[in-house]
Amino acid sequence: MEIPRFGVEEWMNTYEMDARYNTGETCVEPLTLKELLKLAGESDGLLDMIKTMKLDYGYIKGSEAFRNEAAGLYQNMGPENILATHGGSGANFLAFYTLVNPGDKVISVRPTYQQLYSIPESFQAEVKILELKYEDNFLPDLNRLEELIDEDTRLICLNNPNNPTGSLIKQPMLEEIVELARRRGAYLLCDEVYRGLFHDPEERVPSVVDLYEKGISVGSMSKVFSLAGLRMGWIAAAREIIEECQRRRDYTIISCGKIDDFLAALALQNRDKIRERNYPRVKEQLKILDNWVAQEPLIDYVKPEAGSVAFLKYDLDISSREFCRRMIEERGVLLVPGSCFEKEGFFRLAFAGNRSQLEQGLKEISCFIRNFDK
Ligand SMILES: Cc1ncc(COP(=O)(O)O)c(C=O)c1O
Repeated sequence: MEIPRFGVEEWMNTYEMDARYNTGETCVEPLTLKELLKLAGESDGLLDMIKTMKLDYGYIKGSEAFRNEAAGLYQNMGPENILATHGGSGANFLAFYTLVNPGDKVISVRPTYQQLYSIPESFQAEVKILELKYEDNFLPDLNRLEELIDEDTRLICLNNPNNPTGSLIKQPMLEEIVELARRRGAYLLCDEVYRGLFHDPEERVPSVVDLYEKGISVGSMSKVFSLAGLRMGWIAAAREIIEECQRRRDYTIISCGKIDDFLAALALQNRDKIRERNYPRVKEQLKILDNWVAQEPLIDYVKPEAGSVAFLKYDLDISSREFCRRMIEERGVLLVPGSCFEKEGFFRLAFAGNRSQLEQGLKEISCFIRNFDK
């Protein structure tokens, strides 16, 4: 089966290990196992539970504890609506594998995580792109969506909050999108792996799965919960959709790792503590980035409303790939070129990792811009 190269992932695979200033990685500064056990309060007992755990296949759909906790992130979901997956990427793949047939019409926003349009395309769907534009604050143009959608549309793909822009579709617009999907009977898959990282603490943006019977939410332990190393994610959806996904999942992963499931459930049980650790960090580091953007005349952006990434627009005569290549090779700063998201003149910067690497990385970008001579 043909599939284009995965722009972001290949870029990261090539350069991540060379980064002195890692502003490429999108997770909020990862937790160690020690930190997680400490947050959970009873370090030794928990470690013993892991040590004495029988390493069989474990819980096929995900443990009751994990599925209960993940369900708690939604308004109307129970454990029967959750299926554990190998990360959010495994969840996206499984959902597409379940829902998309050759010839189906699929609409996806872009820029976004490439899975959302390249996997349906590889399954020979007819994919139409709903371009998110800088002028629209990277929010979908609903008139355009209405033009793209028809009664044969099988699936609409969103990413909320969005990677790479940090834009956030709020409830009123989400409800309009749901209405458009419902009128045509289309499924609505929303990659929500950054959901919860809202920069206004009062913000409460619902999941599509709480708004729409054919909504499918993809979640992950990687970003908001700082635990990418567990490789745990999930699909949340109506029971019939979960059952269809489960049928395909028997052929692909059988189950997730038992220790990973245990630690993910533990983290979700302690999610308020993880939030207390992560929110101030994300807020302060976005402020560092915002101050930097304000004093850089050749850089501009739509300030992210959620998530851990920003999509920076630069006014220099250089391709985004060359800009980012030189940043990593000459100055050790890892960024991701806009071209990986099919958007020239931009680069993605992740601001929620290590604080001093962010500060130093921004200084290096400033130096590069000052001395820029092609
Ligand atoms: C929007 C989005 N979805 C899914 C993923 C995959 O994440 P994971 O498989 O670690 O959950 C990423 C990772 O960068 C992402 O940005």
